[in-house]
Amino acid sequence: MQSFPATDAHAFRRVLGHFCTGVTVITTSLHGDPAGFTCQAFSTLSLDPPLVLFCVSTASTTWPKIRDAGFFCVNVLAAGQEDLGRRFARRGCRRFDGMVNAESPGGAPMISGAAAWIDCTLEDRHEAGDHNIVIGKARHLSTDTAKEPLLFFRGEWATLGPLSGRAAGR
Ligand SMILES: Cc1cc2nc3c(=O)[nH]c(=O)nc-3n(C[C@H](O)[C@H](O)[C@H](O)COP(=O)(O)O)c2cc1C
Repeated sequence: MQSFPATDAHAFRRVLGHFCTGVTVITTSLHGDPAGFTCQAFSTLSLDPPLVLFCVSTASTTWPKIRDAGFFCVNVLAAGQEDLGRRFARRGCRRFDGMVNAESPGGAPMISGAAAWIDCTLEDRHEAGDHNIVIGKARHLSTDTAKEPLLFFRGEWATLGPLSGRAAGR
């Protein structure tokens, strides 16, 4: 396999794109105005206390709203929701126009039809390069087990193949 210096931004993106992830839309509400953006850099962090994290660009316009609101909802997109994944990544459009969004227990807009949601209060933030690592304490959460996830792999939307049937045993 060919090796690349990690300072090669094209190679960095391409190689890291081989790490297949789910896709979330992270939402908040500031002074009654909904905000949200598509985020793939999301992870569980701690079980006790229940913490999650996401990474957001320092150029994000949603992040300052989450910071000021102090809460957010992670909406895990379901298979077939790639239009929403695109919409919440697009700059300069009114992302919530035409949508009917229920409110999470913490007050953030929820994406209808999502596979799961995790409602959080903002716990901490760390600067890291051109991104912030944002830590949230999960307060309420739910899932629709009938839903398959939307995936992102090598720059493309994807859906899950057949499950192996072998539990991870954690
Ligand atoms: C599949 C996908 C995953 C993304 N993941 C992230 C991410 O993890 N962090 C991030 O800051 N931006 C991510 N983006 C880009 C943002 O969604 C995009 O820059 C958006 O315009 C930011 O909106 P904002 O400036 O209103 O916050 C992703 C976009 C796509 C399509």
